[in-house]
Amino acid sequence: KKVVVLISGRGSNMQALVNANLPCEIAAVISNKEDAGGLAFAATRNIPTAVLSHKGFSSREAFDAEMIKLIDSYQPDLVVLAGFMRILSADFVNHYQNRLINIHPSLLPSFKGLHTHQQALDAGVKLHGCSVHFVTAELDHGPIIAQAAVPVLPDDTEDSLASRVLTQEHIIYPQSVKWFVEDKLTILENGTVRISH
Ligand code: GRF
Repeated sequence: KKVVVLISGRGSNMQALVNANLPCEIAAVISNKEDAGGLAFAATRNIPTAVLSHKGFSSREAFDAEMIKLIDSYQPDLVVLAGFMRILSADFVNHYQNRLINIHPSLLPSFKGLHTHQQALDAGVKLHGCSVHFVTAELDHGPIIAQAAVPVLPDDTEDSLASRVLTQEHIIYPQSVKWFVEDKLTILENGTVRISH
């Protein structure tokens, strides 16, 4: 199976996916930012890279339509959002229905949106974590595939908590992609995901 990974920044989750040697082909790594750190890593692994800047597009829909063309040129079975910092239009999400996944640095449905680690600290929760989910038109919603929890420690800062969560992201994202490419995931009618082993 072919997987296209979308990034905007350092790409540590993308690197974890590549390093996991999953039973699929990482057909391309695409960024909306030309200075995304992850692009250099992908190039060292001989993975095709592409940049499509959102600047210069008159609308979100126009950018997303061009992005769909670029992604589809690699004929992916799965599109993986790995720190892709763009809100996606309904058309984009619908185009990749049931084959578009995201990782979000919180235990959904808590703490959607940005600054999730600060949100967790502010709320005083004692457990925090990350979630891999299928993407639906509603931001940070969608059937949950996997989650990992970490403790929130008394002296945590946003950064210390983020790095504890990130370690778990690098475990559950490759695992989730593996399940997907092995056809082990089923989205049930009630919007939950069944994992067959
Ligand atoms: C991760 O925390 C991910 O959960 C969030 O953005 C961050 C991306 O980090 N969506 P990286 O680019 O994968 O290192």
